[in-house]
Amino acid sequence: MKINCFVYKNKKYSIDKNGEVTRKSHSNIALIKYWGKHNKKIQIPLNSSISYSLKNIYTVTRLIYHKHKKEKKNFSIKIFFSGKEKTSFLPKIFDFFHRISFYCSYLLDFNFIIETYNTFPHSSGIASSASSMSALALCVMEIEKKLVSSLEEDFFLKKASFLARLGSGSACRSIYPGLVVWGNHKSIKGSNDFYAIPYPYKIHTIFTKLVNTILIIDEKPKKILSSKGHLLMNSHLYAKERFKSANKNMDSLISILKIGDFQEFGELIEHEALTLHAMIMTSRPYFLWMKPNTINVIQSVWDFRKESKKNIYFTLDAGANVHLLYPIEEKKIILKWIYSDLFSFCKKIIESFCY
Ligand code: PMV
Repeated sequence: MKINCFVYKNKKYSIDKNGEVTRKSHSNIALIKYWGKHNKKIQIPLNSSISYSLKNIYTVTRLIYHKHKKEKKNFSIKIFFSGKEKTSFLPKIFDFFHRISFYCSYLLDFNFIIETYNTFPHSSGIASSASSMSALALCVMEIEKKLVSSLEEDFFLKKASFLARLGSGSACRSIYPGLVVWGNHKSIKGSNDFYAIPYPYKIHTIFTKLVNTILIIDEKPKKILSSKGHLLMNSHLYAKERFKSANKNMDSLISILKIGDFQEFGELIEHEALTLHAMIMTSRPYFLWMKPNTINVIQSVWDFRKESKKNIYFTLDAGANVHLLYPIEEKKIILKWIYSDLFSFCKKIIESFCY
């Protein structure tokens, strides 16, 4: 599919002057991490990534639109987060709308009010850009659907993912449930740098019902934004090796997902998580997202796994918090252990599922 097909070309359209659309979108956690993008505003990743969408963690967004009375060709935006006006969100949203207006020129004919909330606590340290940007992209596509009655579901989702990517790279994976791939990889048919696709191959049943327990170690917003971290990969001493290793890990994961080897799966995702943080620690400028309690949790997981032989592994996001992944069959014992042995290291525990 050529990206030109995403440009909305119809100059004349009819739509009610005022209206609204609402969509929800889930957050996701990457198993193979996207870290590094081309030094342009178009969010093209330097390696392919794969994530699970997360069940209880989502953003709901209502996009209210009013058509300009006279031809104006520019939009205005007001944004409310959990009922309160949030002018601090405006620069990012304006930037996003400007980027996507090339593909959705009708946006220029409206004034917008965005009302949005998350089901997870704001400033809990969970990245909200994936679910918020994808929810907004889905809302924009709902407007486009009103303009093009013949719009097909497959195109709707692809373009939503394409637009979400322009807001935040990882957001393009949040359009689909389950395992989702973004970024061209030679072994994954249909994978590309412009929009995400559902993982197209066989998945062993053990990977279809995973529990994701999120340990919130630090609730404060990160000091170093991921957008800055990505760009540091352009001059990173170990970048080439990192991209090679991410590609190789994707090949390994394809066969692991098919065979159902949970130990191999767990070791691969832990390796990926630690590699992401190693890249951060060795960039220039270097920085550190882990906190002492991140290490305490990791060490406890390793000790518990050795003693109990349970299938519990961790992954990390761009921050201090820890995501624990384990099969649903082992939930009872593992969750009991988490609350008894890990609670003291955390500010909060959030229970979720990969779905
Ligand atoms: O989507 P961004 O630009 O916030 O980057 C996300 C990067 C990681 O969360 C660290 C990895 C990933 O693939 O989600």
